[in-house]
Amino acid sequence: MHQLSPLPYAYNALEPFIDARTLEIHHSKHHQSYVDKLNTALEKYPELQDKTAEELIAMLDEIPETIRTTVRNNAGGHFSHTFYWNCMSPTAQEDIPEELGKAIVDDFGSIVAFKEQFTVAATNLFGSGWVWLVFDATNKKLTITSTQGHDNPLMTGDTPLMVIDIWEHAYYLHYQNRRAEYIQNWWNVLDWKVVGQNYTEHI
Ligand SMILES: [Fe+2]
Repeated sequence: MHQLSPLPYAYNALEPFIDARTLEIHHSKHHQSYVDKLNTALEKYPELQDKTAEELIAMLDEIPETIRTTVRNNAGGHFSHTFYWNCMSPTAQEDIPEELGKAIVDDFGSIVAFKEQFTVAATNLFGSGWVWLVFDATNKKLTITSTQGHDNPLMTGDTPLMVIDIWEHAYYLHYQNRRAEYIQNWWNVLDWKVVGQNYTEHI
């Protein structure tokens, strides 16, 4: 059985950038529902029940067709939300770790250029989805990618380093239609220490 882990901080810990009500509903209702739907889908498949969300995403082609889309959406939702929670912190480190910072400058020209490109990708994403910084293992470089629904970089073999949730449920209660304001404020809670750890663990 998959379980929803508690957030690594209190629901009000990311205020004023992400409000407590949004965070509580996002985590305890939306994320919980992906976990519940995943468990329901796996009820008749005991051989799949001990797989992690990451493992299920990596073996989608082998998942029975009757539950494949459900597993794709809900294992994806479970993985992506866990990753998103862990990228944020009330004590977010603003300084970019040296090794990651160097890679960003190499691949995007400058930190400012990277932040601009990431912000534009997040602002312009059509519909519900996610914007990621990934390490593209094939080309050995950092890349910004967008995914629809709960698709994620594991599906294309890339390594996710950081992510922002661009579903309206991530910001609508507080920001309404002002997605750009949510993205601008989200940079304040992005923990570069975690992104740097994700980078050094996977290169
Ligand atoms: Fe979400």
